[in-house]
Amino acid sequence: MLRSRDGRSSRYSTSLAPSGANIQPWHVYVLSGAAKANVSAALLNAHETCRDEHVSEYKYYASELPDPYLKRRQEFGRLFYGSLGIRQADAEARSRQTAKNYAFFGAPVGLIVTIDRRLEAGSWLDLGMFVQNVMLAAAGRGLQSCPQETFSKYHRILRPLLSIPEEQLVVCGISVGKPAVEGHRLMPRAHVDEFATFLGMEA
Ligand SMILES: Cc1cc2nc3c(=O)[nH]c(=O)nc-3n(C[C@H](O)[C@H](O)[C@H](O)COP(=O)(O)O)c2cc1C
Repeated sequence: MLRSRDGRSSRYSTSLAPSGANIQPWHVYVLSGAAKANVSAALLNAHETCRDEHVSEYKYYASELPDPYLKRRQEFGRLFYGSLGIRQADAEARSRQTAKNYAFFGAPVGLIVTIDRRLEAGSWLDLGMFVQNVMLAAAGRGLQSCPQETFSKYHRILRPLLSIPEEQLVVCGISVGKPAVEGHRLMPRAHVDEFATFLGMEA
């Protein structure tokens, strides 16, 4: 995947993602055509009929989000749903927006990323780098991508559909496709002084 046309890895290759002791703890299911359509149909049906029966095997967010993270998440909600014309209280409209995840936002390629559950937190650091490499490799080829943790809650449906072995834990999906119309950046970022502490830099 994401290799140059002659099949060789380029410097943007996903398989060149670094990992501690080079253990390469990731696995990725690359879906298109009928395979992607089957997954989307099954997950859209679950989202429609029994979404509360499904729960991720890992916790993405802390139950009690301390500030500044809580404030940022609230701001995300305002900006994201606001940009789509969805009121925060409109659960139906929000659910329709969530459903678009399971159709990979209409992208032609969808990825399901897993990690071996026997590994420790350090390997999740490796996995994040792998996911970022996939996204940079896509960008390097003029493609757009979206990481999607929401796929993790449907691991019980994905496992038999994709023959995912028991030791693999579903971490996220990624949609990959041609860029939609070029938009402006919606989500702000903290200024560098908020997250970086510079020491000993004086000339
Ligand atoms: C690990 C990870 C998981 C994410 N999961 C989802 C998701 O399930 N659905 C979704 O629409 N966006 C998802 N996002 C996208 C974020 O909401 C988005 O990156 C964030 O709002 C910042 O916006 P920006 O990337 O456009 O700057 C995810 C992002 C990351 C890094």
